[in-house]
Amino acid sequence: MSERTTAPPPPEPSPAIRIRPLSYPDLPQVIAVERRVFPTPWSLAMFVLELSKQSGVCLAAFSGERLVGYLICSRYDTVWHIMNIAVDLDHQRHGLASSMLRELYERVGDDEARFTLEVRRSNVVAIHLYEREGFRAAGIRRRYYQDNGEDALVMWRTPSTLAGTLDDVPNPGRVGID
Ligand SMILES: CC(C)(COP(=O)(O)OP(=O)(O)OC[C@H]1O[C@@H](n2cnc3c(N)ncnc32)[C@H](O)[C@@H]1OP(=O)(O)O)[C@@H](O)C(=O)NCCC(=O)NCCS
Repeated sequence: MSERTTAPPPPEPSPAIRIRPLSYPDLPQVIAVERRVFPTPWSLAMFVLELSKQSGVCLAAFSGERLVGYLICSRYDTVWHIMNIAVDLDHQRHGLASSMLRELYERVGDDEARFTLEVRRSNVVAIHLYEREGFRAAGIRRRYYQDNGEDALVMWRTPSTLAGTLDDVPNPGRVGID
């Protein structure tokens, strides 16, 4: 009599990703992700400060009950500054950061909005993401990161960068020249 083999059960489909505003009770999960993905993580106090700003947009992405990504964006006058964006290690490369950025643009709801951020020059993954999103490098902040003295690339996403120029970027500097 031949032995019947039982096929392994199909893998559980991962729960759909849901993006909603970040709130204070989410912060322990945020800190856990932050410590996994960044060599010099933000402190809890830094997240609390950003969340307390009324004019900012802070988002969290959930797979079921688990927080798997977040985005922190502050508004300074007419400019939106993306202060932090991260996706947990096992959820990277599935379009989650792009989805959170899309949600941010929708919530800001202004076609004329200008977004800016700083990114380590060595962070090619993030730079690639931002370029795909229409951000363009428009300056360098020398030795911006205190842990290793690395330069920051200043990137902007504006109506002009989306049209291929830096016309509405304040004080664009030269990039890529040491
Ligand atoms: C940067 C980060 C937020 C991207 O999140 P993500 O959800 O993986 O990004 P997405 O899946 O939306 O990727 C969008 C694009 O980013 C780029 N990208 C993402 N992961 C990449 C990788 N491992 N290698 C190269 N490019 C990558 C690609 O352009 C990708 O598009 P593609 O998959 O069509 O090629 C994530 O890698 C992360 O949390 N990194 C650690 C924290 C960090 O560096 N944050 C940015 C600080 S400025």
